[in-house]
Amino acid sequence: MEQTKNYEHWKIDQDPQGIVWVTFDRHDSKVNTLGKETLEELKSIVDQLPPTAKGVVFQSGKSSGFVAGADITEFENITSEKDALDFVTRAKSIFNAIEKLPITTVALINGFCLGGGYEFALACDYRIALDDPSVRIGLPEVKLGIIPGWGGTVRLPRLIGVLNAMNIILPGSAVDAYKAKKLGMVDDITRTEHLLKRAAVFYINTKPPKHQPSFFQKLLSHNLLRSFVASRLTQSVAKKAPREHYPAPYLVIENWQRDGAQSDDAMEHESKAISELFFHPSTASLVRAFLLQSYLKEQGKKLLTPIQHIHVIGAGTMGGDIASWCALIGYQVTLQDRTEEQIAPAIKRAYALYQKKLKQPRLIQAAMDRLMPDIKGHGVKQADVIIEAIFENLEVKNSLYKSLEQSMKSTAILATNTSSLPLEELSVGLKNPERLVGIHFFNPVSLMQLVEVVRGENTNDDTYNQALGFVTKIKRLPLPVKSSPGFLVNRILMPYLLEAIQLVDEGVAPVSIDKAATNFGMPMGPVELADTVGLDICLSVGEILSHHFSVHIPEILRTRINEKKLGRKTGQGFYQYRDGKPVVVPLYQNAEVPTNLTDRIILPLINEAVRCWREGIVSEEDFIDAGLIYGTGFAPFRGGPMRYIQTEGAENILQRLETLAKECGERFTPDAGWQKLIKNSTKTSKKISETTH
Ligand code: NAI
Repeated sequence: MEQTKNYEHWKIDQDPQGIVWVTFDRHDSKVNTLGKETLEELKSIVDQLPPTAKGVVFQSGKSSGFVAGADITEFENITSEKDALDFVTRAKSIFNAIEKLPITTVALINGFCLGGGYEFALACDYRIALDDPSVRIGLPEVKLGIIPGWGGTVRLPRLIGVLNAMNIILPGSAVDAYKAKKLGMVDDITRTEHLLKRAAVFYINTKPPKHQPSFFQKLLSHNLLRSFVASRLTQSVAKKAPREHYPAPYLVIENWQRDGAQSDDAMEHESKAISELFFHPSTASLVRAFLLQSYLKEQGKKLLTPIQHIHVIGAGTMGGDIASWCALIGYQVTLQDRTEEQIAPAIKRAYALYQKKLKQPRLIQAAMDRLMPDIKGHGVKQADVIIEAIFENLEVKNSLYKSLEQSMKSTAILATNTSSLPLEELSVGLKNPERLVGIHFFNPVSLMQLVEVVRGENTNDDTYNQALGFVTKIKRLPLPVKSSPGFLVNRILMPYLLEAIQLVDEGVAPVSIDKAATNFGMPMGPVELADTVGLDICLSVGEILSHHFSVHIPEILRTRINEKKLGRKTGQGFYQYRDGKPVVVPLYQNAEVPTNLTDRIILPLINEAVRCWREGIVSEEDFIDAGLIYGTGFAPFRGGPMRYIQTEGAENILQRLETLAKECGERFTPDAGWQKLIKNSTKTSKKISETTH
C-alpha cells in the first residue's frame, strides 16, 4: 500500500485496488475518542478524499477498539447553548459528508464502538465487526444525561427500525458483535482481523444491498402508528427513569414521534435537544460519575509485575465467583477448597456465567479450561496474585497465610477478601506482612463493578500498587481505602439500611420507605436491599461496626432473624418473595408516612459519608462519591453523597440533621466533619477531568 499523507491522529493509505484505508490512532491516548482536534483532521481527510477512490475503509489502529465515543473531557468547554450547538454540528456535518460521499464507505469495528464512535460508523454505507468478546457496540449517551446527538437518534431507527433502535438508545445499551449483527446494527461479523479487512474489500467490490428494517419495524414508523408506539415507549421509560431527573430518553421519543427518522427536521431537532440537555442539572453529575470511573481506573496504572496466574482459596459464594470472573477475563486461575464437592458448585456457576457472557462454545470451553480446580493448592507456587476467600475467622485465616507464605513466589501478593477483619490482625505472624492487602469484592462479583482495595498499616507501596493494578486488569473499578471497620461502602450504607429497618419497627410500611428511596434515585429501596443482602448479614455487619462506632440496631431486625425470616434467601424477610420477587404484603399498609421520611433514611448515609471523609478512610472526596455510586448505585444523577452536599448546601443539611437529632434521637447528631466541610466549602474538589487520559 502506498502512504499518501500523514495526520497527527489518522493514517491514510491507498492500496493498489484504489481503496483508501483511513486508520484512527489518537496519538495522545490509549483509546480513540472524537474531540475537536481529531474531528478537524477527519474533516480534512473526508474533504480531500480522491474522487477516483474505489472505496474508503475507516478502521482503528488501537487494540482497545474502534472509537469509544466523543471526548467527554471536552464537555467542560461547553458553557453556552451556542457552544453546545457548535460541538454537535462540527461532528454532524462531517458524518453527513461521509454519508453523502459517492464512494462506498465501510467501518471496521473492533473493541469499543460506542456513542459518537458508533454514530461515525452509522454514517458509513456498511459496518463490519470483529466477532470477539471485547466488542461492544451501542449508544450509551442517555447514561450521561444527553442523547446521541451526532445523528444516532435518526440513523439508527432508520437502519434497524424504531423498536430495535429504541431498545438501544433509551436505556443507553451496548451489545456484542453477534447481537449487533442480529439486529442489523452491523452488516457482518468475522472471526479474525484479517478476515475483517477482506470483508471490507468484498463489500466495496460487490456493494450488496444496504440493511433495511423489517416490514413490521417499518410499519411501526408509519404516521398513523407513531403516537401509539411513542406512548408505549414513554410508559416503559417512565417505569425506570423519572423525567424530572432523566429527560433525555423522553426527548428522543418525542423527536421521533414528531419527525420520524427520514426528515431533515429530525437531525435539526436532535441537535437542539442535546444542546439543551447539556445544561440540565443531572447531566453534570452523570458526566462526572462517568469521569469518576476513569479516575478509579487511573489508580491501577502502577502495576509492577505482569499478572498471569491467579490462585483463589475458598470456593464459596465469593471465592468461586472471583475465580470464575478472573478466568472469564483471560487469566489462568486455580481454585482451591477443602474438597472437590465444595468446588463443584463454583464450576457450575462459572459455566452458567460463561454461557451468558461468551455465548460461543469455543470461547466457553476456553474459559472453562482456564479455571482449574486445585484441591492440593499446586497453584500457590505459580500465582502472581493469591486471593483468600475462606470463612470469616481470624485464626483459620492466620494459619492459612503462614503456610502460604512458605511457597508463594517472591513477587506475588497475598490478598484477603475479608469484609470485617483488620489487616493488622490478619498479618500477625507473617514474615512479610507488607505483602498482605485487602481486595474486597462485592456480591455478586460479576455485577458489582467496584472493588475496595484496602491498605493496612503494614502494606507496602509495591503490594498496594500491584493490587490496584490487578483490579483494573480484571475490569473492575479499584477504590483505594484505608483499613478500618466496614471500609468505606458498607460503613456508609449500614446507617441507611438500619434506619429504614427502624422505620419499619415504628410502623411505617416497607413499601413507603422503599418508594421514598427510589424516588430519591436509589436503584432499590433499603428494606428490599436489606432483604436481598440477608437480614442475618445486616445484623452481623451492624454488630461488627457497633464494636467501633455507635450503631443503632433496631429490635425488629433481631425478631425477624429469630423467626428465621432472613430475607430473599428464605422467601421472607420484611417482604415475602415469590419466584425471587418481592410481593407486597399488607404490612402497615395504611400507616401514616412521616413527612421527613426521605431525610430520615438518606441523611444517616450522608452523615456517615462526612464522618468517613473526616477520618480519612479515603484520601479524596471524589472517592466517596465514586464508591457509593459504583458500590451501591447511589443516585448517579445526584453525583454521590459529597456532590449531594454541595448541591443542597452543607449548612442546609447540617440543620436538617440537627432537627432530626432533636426529633428522632442522637443517632442523627451531625458529625464533627460538617464544620470542617463548611469551612472548606469554598475549595473545589480535585478536577478529575484532567486525569482521564
Ligand atoms: P462461604 O462460606 O460461601 O465460602 C467459604 C469457603 O471457604 C467454603 O467453600 C469453605 O469450604 C472454604 N474454606 C474454608 N476454610 C478453608 C481452607 N482452610 N482452605 C480452603 N478452603 C477453605 O464464604 P463467602 O461468603 O464466600 O465469604 C468468604 C470471604 O469473603 C469471607 O472473608 C467474607 O467475609 C468475605 N466476603 C463475603 C461477602 C458475601 O457477600 N458473602 C462479600 C464480601 C466479602
